[in-house]
Amino acid sequence: MIKIEDKFIHIATNNTSYVFCITPYGDLQHLHYGGRVADNHLDVLKELRSVLLVNTLYPDGDESYGIDGTCFEYSFANRGNSSAVGTIMSDKNGGVFDFVFSNAKIGEVPPTLAASSHGYDNTLVVIMKDKCRNVMLELWYLVYENVDVITRFARVINCEKEDISIHKLMSAQLDIFGDDFELTTFDGAWGRERIAKTHTINSGSFLAGSHSGMSGAECNPFFMIKDKSAGCNCDDVFAFNLVYSGSHQFSAERNPYGVVSVMNGIQSDGFLYKLQQGQNFVTPESVMTFSCFGTNGVSQNMHAFVQKHITRYVGQLPVMLNSWEAMYFDITEQKVMAVIDGASELGFEAVVVDDGWFKNRHNDTLALGDWVEDKNKFPNGIVSVANYCKSKDMIFGIWIEPEMISVDSDLYRANPTWALMTPKAKAIVGRNQYILDLTKTIVQDYIVEAVGRLVEDYGIGYLKWDFNRRLSDICCDDGSQSYHYRYTLSLYQIMERITKKYPKLIIEGCASGGGRFDLGMLCYCPFVWVSDNTDPLSRAEIQEGTSYGYPMNVMLNHISASPNHQTERSSKIKSRLDIAHCGAFGAQLDPNKLCKEDKQALSDAIKVYKNDRVWLENCKSYRLSNGQVDNHCIWQIMSKDGDYVKLVIFKKRFYTVDATLKIKLKGLDDDALYEIFGEGLTRQAYGLTLKNGGFVLPQNYQGVKYEESTGRIGDSGTAVYYIKKKG
Ligand code: GLA
Repeated sequence: MIKIEDKFIHIATNNTSYVFCITPYGDLQHLHYGGRVADNHLDVLKELRSVLLVNTLYPDGDESYGIDGTCFEYSFANRGNSSAVGTIMSDKNGGVFDFVFSNAKIGEVPPTLAASSHGYDNTLVVIMKDKCRNVMLELWYLVYENVDVITRFARVINCEKEDISIHKLMSAQLDIFGDDFELTTFDGAWGRERIAKTHTINSGSFLAGSHSGMSGAECNPFFMIKDKSAGCNCDDVFAFNLVYSGSHQFSAERNPYGVVSVMNGIQSDGFLYKLQQGQNFVTPESVMTFSCFGTNGVSQNMHAFVQKHITRYVGQLPVMLNSWEAMYFDITEQKVMAVIDGASELGFEAVVVDDGWFKNRHNDTLALGDWVEDKNKFPNGIVSVANYCKSKDMIFGIWIEPEMISVDSDLYRANPTWALMTPKAKAIVGRNQYILDLTKTIVQDYIVEAVGRLVEDYGIGYLKWDFNRRLSDICCDDGSQSYHYRYTLSLYQIMERITKKYPKLIIEGCASGGGRFDLGMLCYCPFVWVSDNTDPLSRAEIQEGTSYGYPMNVMLNHISASPNHQTERSSKIKSRLDIAHCGAFGAQLDPNKLCKEDKQALSDAIKVYKNDRVWLENCKSYRLSNGQVDNHCIWQIMSKDGDYVKLVIFKKRFYTVDATLKIKLKGLDDDALYEIFGEGLTRQAYGLTLKNGGFVLPQNYQGVKYEESTGRIGDSGTAVYYIKKKG
């Protein structure tokens, strides 16, 4: 619902309200974001006060309007601001911009970037005009009522004859009232992506983001602001994300007057975008949600939003087997055929040949860009392998890193100017490779055609789209410093063309593991590779961190060999399977090298997964512990109708005479009877009991006598129970 009345603008979702007003000076004053409020008498949300401080600024003659103490919907420089502003723009003389309200419209079609959300209930655009020039700033709001999400972005339109410069334009700015907040970020590095870290918001600003041209493993665009008292299931939490895969930033700044100013958008450090007459500039979409049901509340909103309004692929995703850890670069047709046989026997639905399949790619110094088959490795051609795979009723897929180029490649020899390289300077490489200049139309066409050939000539139904280095050596900018933005938009143009032309092609996102796990990529990739680290202990923490902002079905998980190739830790196949099951499930190992028992376990697990995924795709999930710091990760995964619950418990370390684990389930029907089964146990209980009393885990090993019935969970061990509604 969007309502404009008496200069008050009220945007409402089912459980939240967002309110601002137009002041007599034409400013937009932010009044409320949080739980739902009534439609009328919104003036009660406005502060009634005279000038805030002796040293504040106010319009001459009106001391009731303290400019620097007012929460603005968007703030502009040169107003005596004590906090950072969301917008910095200048004209050719260095004059800054200051916008005032001009108009507001409901129901207009939003001019979003290509990667954007879809299926909104309504839109609002507030048009602001610069006080001195013919330049407009549009503030867009897209409303998703059922999932309690509002997305926002800004557009600048230059109708002046002169160029103008954009130095900073955040997608959203939000002032939150109250000064007892914490900020949670999700960051890490290769192999330990998206681990939750909580920071107190003291005075001053907390600024985070990426500068590398990619969203990055170092700082995911998803973050939360929560009341210090907020827990997993109660009290106020705000969560934010960005539909963007390039360099980004977010900040939280607490002012001395009890307000935290939050912003997110494109990385503004060193940013400069020149806008000519008639041109417009659009920011990526910022996504925000609020819940008074704690961190699980905002996660559930974000999950439903991603499932319904971000991912676009329609169709079931296959249980896939990937060749990377089974073969690395040592790929032959014979080996691939054997893996196809093994995968088919176990019930896989797709086989994906990773890096190393294409011409001359014998190691990671060679051949990126030459996306053609290697006849030495595949004497009968890729198409015959793809056909063999399809004859076994499986999709055939391959790995590709289309944004990259190796110097030792036919592509580079023919088009050396396509690579980003600073002339006459010592080259900077990442994994021995260079980035293609995606902003060139000819490069975009090359990538689209190369992918087209793989699909049409080789019969590929699945692409793993990798990206293994950061951007550097930008020497082709047009005098402005906006290359990272233009690169990201070019990537989206390429993905648009490919996904429109081949809607059935499944594209897995990957970037040195989970280095580009963001809402931009998820517009084109139904799932993204979570991390190269598949060790269950590391993985449980990574998946749990990821689950704060992203639903399980977009997390691609693999079971791999033990000892693990990244951590060298050994683990039981059960733990690996149970953790990998909490997402889109697959494997990267040689099925033919598994012992008989492990083969059976994997084949059984595939059957279970095929059964579960019907409801896992739009499940609702709860974290029942803080697995980022506790000894247990406990995940309750529930079907949309609430009839099925899967309870997954992962124990990091086994302690003798450990405390009893009593798990209180969420979201069950009080009066319904549930059957609990798993790990050799069958029990019945009413929803009310399971919610308030809890389910006591049969785990009583005290170090004296061990029997199967004691249900011991060892180091990196798992237990999985199903709870099914009986009626
Ligand atoms: C990256 C990916 C891996 C694998 C290799 C292949 O590191 O994250 O999964 O595809 O590239 O070179």
